[in-house]
Amino acid sequence: MTQVTEKAEASESIKLSPMREVHLSQIAEMHRQINPSPWSLDQWNTCCEAPLYSNWILEDKDLDVGEQVVGFSCSICSGPEAELLNIGVAQGKQGKGLGEGLLRSSLLLLPETAEHCFLEVRRSNIPAINLYEKLGFESIAERKDYYRHSSGVVEDALIFRKTL
Ligand SMILES: CC(C)(COP(=O)(O)OP(=O)(O)OC[C@H]1O[C@@H](n2cnc3c(N)ncnc32)[C@H](O)[C@@H]1OP(=O)(O)O)[C@@H](O)C(=O)NCCC(=O)NCCS
Repeated sequence: MTQVTEKAEASESIKLSPMREVHLSQIAEMHRQINPSPWSLDQWNTCCEAPLYSNWILEDKDLDVGEQVVGFSCSICSGPEAELLNIGVAQGKQGKGLGEGLLRSSLLLLPETAEHCFLEVRRSNIPAINLYEKLGFESIAERKDYYRHSSGVVEDALIFRKTL
């Protein structure tokens, strides 16, 4: 990875690469496992093809297991404003510093025009909120009952911003 995290567990075999169409089915499957409202394959295709997007994956190139996508991030940037639209780490790989490294790298790799990065997150998503606050994002607004999960659960969104 381009960013070294403080945690030693992050594997040397894990590399940061641009997201490509060939990765999308693995990413969509991973997203179904870690998010209560996962994107469809069509949504992933749209985000991969669109010109303003900046999309990255973490790929485990461990020779014993074969190449495997273990993380993804998806951002959009227009002039000074960027937004982190999605980030995730595979279930079995969470808690090892990968999400932090991926987010740091994704922010560094935004276009030079980017001055702020926004994101929204479910209020109950404590791991993600802690990660964002650790990297300097500040909560600036909330959207009441913004998410309606397929389970029927309704939840507020929190909006965070970081000055780059
Ligand atoms: C959020 C997510 C990307 C974090 O990735 P990760 O690789 O597990 O996180 P890291 O190991 O890099 O941890 C970095 C920081 O995140 C926070 N964090 C991570 N897991 C946490 C947990 N289970 N509980 C509380 N805080 C947690 C901590 O601040 C941690 O720093 P610390 O180790 O110094 O305490 C990952 O949990 C994930 O994919 N979640 C499901 C998808 C999702 O919710 N994405 C965000 C959508 S808005």
